[in-house]
Amino acid sequence: MKLIVRYGTVALAIVATAILVISPFATSFVEQWSRRDVELRSKLVFNSVRNEMSNLLAANATAQIGALFEQLALDERLLAIGFCDSNAVLRHSNKVMPADFSCQQVARSDQESFSTIQSAGRPTVAGSFPIPTDAGPGHLILLHDLTFAQERGAQARGWLMIALAIVALVGAALASLIALFIMRRWLQSVRSAIEEVKNGRRDRDEMVESPGVAGEIQRLIRNLDETRRLIDAAYTDWNPETLRRALASQLPNTEIIVVSNREPYIHNRGPNGILLQTPASGLVAAIEPVMRACGGTWIAHGSGSADREIVDAHDRIRVPPASPTYTLRRVWLSEEERDGYYYGFANEGLWPLCHIAFVRPRFRESDWDQYRAVNARFADAVVKEATRPDPIILVQDYHFALLPKMLRERLPEATIITFWHIPWPNSEVFSICPWKEEIISGLLGSTVLGFHTQFHCNNFIDTVDRFVQSRIDREHASITIGGHETFVRPYPISIEWPPAALAGQKPVRECRKSVRARLGLADDICLGIGIERFDYTKGIIDRMLSVDRLLTIHPEWKKSFVFLQIAAPTRSKLSAYIDLQAEAQALAEQINARHGSEGYKPILLLIEHYEPERVFELFRAADLCVVSSLHDGMNLVAKEFVASRDDECGVLILSSFAGASRELSEALIVNPYDSHAMSETLQRALYMPKVEQQARMQVMRNIVRARNVHRWAGQMLLEAAQLRKRHEIMRMTSQERSSAPAPSRSRIVKLAVTK
Ligand code: G6P
Repeated sequence: MKLIVRYGTVALAIVATAILVISPFATSFVEQWSRRDVELRSKLVFNSVRNEMSNLLAANATAQIGALFEQLALDERLLAIGFCDSNAVLRHSNKVMPADFSCQQVARSDQESFSTIQSAGRPTVAGSFPIPTDAGPGHLILLHDLTFAQERGAQARGWLMIALAIVALVGAALASLIALFIMRRWLQSVRSAIEEVKNGRRDRDEMVESPGVAGEIQRLIRNLDETRRLIDAAYTDWNPETLRRALASQLPNTEIIVVSNREPYIHNRGPNGILLQTPASGLVAAIEPVMRACGGTWIAHGSGSADREIVDAHDRIRVPPASPTYTLRRVWLSEEERDGYYYGFANEGLWPLCHIAFVRPRFRESDWDQYRAVNARFADAVVKEATRPDPIILVQDYHFALLPKMLRERLPEATIITFWHIPWPNSEVFSICPWKEEIISGLLGSTVLGFHTQFHCNNFIDTVDRFVQSRIDREHASITIGGHETFVRPYPISIEWPPAALAGQKPVRECRKSVRARLGLADDICLGIGIERFDYTKGIIDRMLSVDRLLTIHPEWKKSFVFLQIAAPTRSKLSAYIDLQAEAQALAEQINARHGSEGYKPILLLIEHYEPERVFELFRAADLCVVSSLHDGMNLVAKEFVASRDDECGVLILSSFAGASRELSEALIVNPYDSHAMSETLQRALYMPKVEQQARMQVMRNIVRARNVHRWAGQMLLEAAQLRKRHEIMRMTSQERSSAPAPSRSRIVKLAVTK
């Protein structure tokens, strides 16, 4: 009923609007049409009497003219008829000619003409037709009453209203019927959906009460829902505590084992005893805070000269040394193993293969053999450290491409999450590796395989597609080989927030002052900085060239801009690294000779390792930081610089070829190969107003704060928790099916395998 009232009201509104809009047009149309009708009649009358009138006027037959006029006036629409002479005097008329009529009121020309006048208070059309007489041209005047035209207009308006009302009412009735029909169908579907939900709930309630396997499955499904909710809410507030809580609730009693080549703490023997060193490694910077939060065991190559002196009988040591929370298990490698596995296959083969930095990869069979053997040795170590059959094993980086498969074979219940910290090239590039199939199938032993970006995930899937027989599900980004499914996912790595190295830092003003003083620079010098391992992928040469160009094009910066490059020695046995170091040193000298002067060197190149606290002090002292990687999986230096600037100042110049540029788009993004554009970007950074620096820095800091490393780890571990629960549900479901088929089983299987 309500619907009909609603539609009726709408229909009336439409009718009223239509009448308001259309009726003036309709009335005027009818009136025009009536007027033309009258004019036509006048012409007909005139044509029929024209000759007779001429004769009667010539004969001056006044009485006959009067009789003729009376006869013509019998036509009910003809109000009056008269004759105006050439002096505009009404000479003849019928009896009912209105007294107020005068010949001056009407147009009189040598053509027929029509005027609208008011005569006897009525609208009147006056037709004026020329008739020549001996005394000059006179006019026959025919007055027609126009009232009837108005009546016709009013009638037309009335009919129009009735017609529109009928159309609107019929339309409203039809629309109401259609709406009622649709609504009934919709209500039916809502009712059945509610019924379904009720039934579903009833099923589950029954399952909670049901004992044994069914009850257990129900518990797992509820738990799985919770994990999904946590993953979806993973955008806010990740910190060590939320990570710990997420693990405690979603992966209770789980053992976490990390495997990487580089260890988080290196003990070296120095002239004054044992020195503790934190390596310059993005991998270590990211995983260490996670391990501090979660606990567990980290298995890594013991590379320090004093490492053996510190460990216990099982090659373990609790770390961090100041307040231990997890175990570092060291694996010892012979020089031969290191040369083949680490320097050879990993760093002369896979490293240049995966980075597009145009250094030729070297593939030697002997290196490959060592690589395989060392992967197997780490597999032994993992199996030995595992205290349960189903640990979560986090395999790190390109040093261990074969390890996931080895572990899958030996610990089939383990959840293996592998993270590839460097880029994955396109399949064409990867095809040059002589052991590509082994590497791919090694990695596909993982449960989840992570890369920093979707782009690298796609490259990997395409490579698998091209070289290995497998089933690829692109919708779920998974690859199945030999019955085992691996999920390929992007997880952009990050740093902890706030970074540990920020604690205890002096205010920025003081950092600026003390760093400049230590470097022998004036207080007001503009300082640019680059800090990383001395690696050819970092674009160190290219950034020096851009400084050279800046000082050439904008010499005003001489003596007022200094670029400080800290380069930590790395992989120094390899010729590509030795060559790079020599080239960079020579270039720095040339640039300093070209633009330097007494007491002024535009480039300060310091080849040494800086501990994180010192790195952060330098970041805080700088006006700008250059991260110009030629190719980089992520590059955490960019994120560390942002995190170090709690004053929200400083400019980040960031290569578009570093994964970090996908997230930190408020940096000044550059192509490191374009030294002209790089130098102009330096110039822009040096002149950037503080307000702009702050606006950019605020956005970047918010991003790094929210997408911190605890979120990175949390997402991977929760994904692992989800997969574990799903497998468990499927395992129990098939167990239940084989013992006693239950009516709701198909429903459970569906729930378990979706998403
Ligand atoms: C990159 C790699 C890490 C490695 C780091 C330092 O970030 O992805 O796995 O630890 O470089 O290299 P290094 O050879 O000194 O461990």
